[in-house]
Amino acid sequence: MALCDGSTGKGSAMARISLRQILDHAAERGYGVPAFSINNMEQGLAILEAANECDAPVIIQASRGARSYAGDIMLAKMVEALELMFPHIPICLHQDHGNNEATCATAIQHGFTSVMMDGSLEADARTPASYDYNVDITRRVTDMAHWVGASVEGELGVLGSLETGEGEKEDGHGFDGRLDRDMLLTDPDQAVDFVARTRVDALAIAMGTSHGAYKFSRRPDGDVLAMDVVEAINDKLPGIHLVMHGSSSVPQELQDIFNEFGGEMPQTYGVPVEEIVRGIRHGVRKVNIDTDCRLAIAGQLRKVAMEEKAQFDPRKFLKPATDAMRALCRDRFEQFGTAGNAGRIKVISLADMAKRYADGALDPQIAAARAAE
Ligand code: G3H
Ligand code: 13P
Ligand code: ZN
Repeated sequence: MALCDGSTGKGSAMARISLRQILDHAAERGYGVPAFSINNMEQGLAILEAANECDAPVIIQASRGARSYAGDIMLAKMVEALELMFPHIPICLHQDHGNNEATCATAIQHGFTSVMMDGSLEADARTPASYDYNVDITRRVTDMAHWVGASVEGELGVLGSLETGEGEKEDGHGFDGRLDRDMLLTDPDQAVDFVARTRVDALAIAMGTSHGAYKFSRRPDGDVLAMDVVEAINDKLPGIHLVMHGSSSVPQELQDIFNEFGGEMPQTYGVPVEEIVRGIRHGVRKVNIDTDCRLAIAGQLRKVAMEEKAQFDPRKFLKPATDAMRALCRDRFEQFGTAGNAGRIKVISLADMAKRYADGALDPQIAAARAAE
């Protein structure tokens, strides 16, 4: 377990970093960091090869689905392997959408340096939760994680489409039915209270993005992609790292490849990269991307299957798929300004981070926001 023990930071090639340290660095230098999902070796290689090409620090995240698909030990060992192969790239391993305390605690047990406690939904990951439930469970996870120096992302507001009022259930995560617009948008004043009471390191906000490919039926404008909410929250909480979920751009060229080779994806629109870059100018530091990686991979699998009908070597499918995902990751590292920053970061061990939390040095910077009220 030595190599994946993020608490020591000694005696190995490991460069595992907390989310908090990467995002503090990103805020200091004004860039954003894509958080890509991992389920298998090819995705891990695609992310790290891209990061290596452009010297970007990395956030790799695993959903509960990824943990049950690959297994905790396989995921932990894959990330150890990536650390050995790319020792100069700081890697944060983050639990995406933790649904309860146990999911977050077992992630940390397996070497995750950061967890998301998504208390916007109850533990079934479907039922919208009350504000008090969210504050209470998030605060308990934050206490636990900070004791060992791990970081916590919380979520306020429920992710879902402002066009339809519906959640995105295709990943088994998200509410059923329809919600009112006010539940689908994070309230800036409540965000100040939430951060003060939970002491999260990063805050995921609801602003019209949703998971999966089918986010918008047209190129989004301010009615359905509420960038003004990002700006309002950033005005009240300038020292807090904001997280955009559901931030795949679903590029037209990836839809076209997928459809050209037998796929049946109806025309859809994602979050334009320019809007994400605008968010980065207003406090967005972590940008969650899964669908684009899936689409890049699936398009190439379809292409090989259609063009080489006698092919049965999985490597001949997976190599172009990995290459396509690597190109996508590289683009996002460049577009978000992540590129060029890996070498500037000296990793702080989780043990040191724990001391800094205990000393109050990492308390959320909300005093100024409160004073201005
Ligand atoms: O949270 C959404 C991510 O896209 C993860 O999806 O639960 O199918 O692994 P997943
Ligand atoms: P996408 O489905 O837009 O890639 O979003 C992924 C995500 O937010 C994971 O938490
Ligand atoms: Zn998400």
